[in-house]
Amino acid sequence: MPTRRETLKSAAAFAAAGAWPLSLRPARSPSPAEAGTGAQAESAAGADEAYSLFDFEPLAKAKMSHAAWEYVNGAAADEITVRWNREGFNRIRLMPRALVDVSKLDCRVNLLGQEMPFPILLAPTASHKATHPDGELATARAAGSCGATMVLSTLSNTSVEEVVRATKSPVWFQLYVQHDREFTRELVKRAVAAGCKALCLTVDTPISGARNREQRAKLALPPGVGYPQLTGLKIPDDPSLHLARLESSIFSSLLSADLTWKEVAWLQSFAGVPLLLKGILNPADADRAVKEGVAGIIVSNHGGRNLDTAPATIDALPGVAEKVAGRIPILMDGGIRRGTDVLKALALGATAVQIGRPYVYGLGAAGEAGVARVLRILQQEFEMAMALIGRPRIRDIDRSVLWPAT
Ligand SMILES: Cc1cc2nc3c(=O)[nH]c(=O)nc-3n(C[C@H](O)[C@H](O)[C@H](O)COP(=O)(O)O)c2cc1C
Repeated sequence: MPTRRETLKSAAAFAAAGAWPLSLRPARSPSPAEAGTGAQAESAAGADEAYSLFDFEPLAKAKMSHAAWEYVNGAAADEITVRWNREGFNRIRLMPRALVDVSKLDCRVNLLGQEMPFPILLAPTASHKATHPDGELATARAAGSCGATMVLSTLSNTSVEEVVRATKSPVWFQLYVQHDREFTRELVKRAVAAGCKALCLTVDTPISGARNREQRAKLALPPGVGYPQLTGLKIPDDPSLHLARLESSIFSSLLSADLTWKEVAWLQSFAGVPLLLKGILNPADADRAVKEGVAGIIVSNHGGRNLDTAPATIDALPGVAEKVAGRIPILMDGGIRRGTDVLKALALGATAVQIGRPYVYGLGAAGEAGVARVLRILQQEFEMAMALIGRPRIRDIDRSVLWPAT
């Protein structure tokens, strides 16, 4: 029987020989251009010791300002929905099949004609420069090196043109419709001209939620940092990041409380790229979305940041999937932290998932290298889940992977 010392030695040799599963290692060394502003060098700053998405949270918290941490980590009101997002996944048990050949795993998906190496996208999150000075460029480079699609927020601190140039992976654009509809039309055209491959219209945010931690922390953007997508927009009020101020009005100058299905049809009339609706929970809305001809929907509760006590997205997904009945692809986000969560979402009807906070924590902890590591860990965990459940191909993942409810 090997001694503990021998076991440790052989583990070290195994690692040194590069025998750890492939996807945690970069696919190849980044070029100097891709390596950017020293982001790779940051990989030594603790993120190398992160082995799960949860490991990034303390690392990010230690590096980020208190206000930025509260902004990213916080959610609406009593933060019940954000907790449910996790609890929903934890409640679902899995039913493995034994003696299946899983020596070859294929986790590629085709989404809206786009081939993706794995079914995980980066959800739109605002203001990356509040988290790391390299901001959205670091995120885009990491998405590029991992083959992930990044959905860029309207409220990014880097222009859509620069972001698209920084990555060889596709970029989608998330739209907050502005009060000035002509400005909105030009913004969409600008994003499409820059090369964005799809438009995600956020429909769950006519106003912001009661984000009390964000309100208390009073986050302000670093000097000189702004919202390049909103340049030229006439805003009656200073567009500070601190959207949920306690003002006389709950309405925001950056969000359209009068957004309806009319704008969905309007956007489709000129967008020229597939339109997805982000923030659908209600099956009736999903049905309407299909009838309006949208290309896809994203089941999301905005990471619990808007309507507190709305259900967990993994609990909302089956009803939506039943209504949609395969007519258009469904994405989902909210609480995805483990490869088994991705598996569960696919089993319940999603074609792909998005992650929000986890990659922002990766960005805060170690810039580009941190975001890339978050993506690789989740991809690898998903591959592990496929192998251990006995489903080597995505198309084999269905409800049969779920342990029946008792
Ligand atoms: C810091 C932060 C900023 C966000 N900004 C946006 C945004 O600009 N537009 C949008 O549609 N959703 C935004 N979201 C919601 C995410 O797109 C996504 O729905 C959510 O983060 C998923 O939940 P998760 O954080 O548990 O993965 C944001 C979320 C966070 C945490």
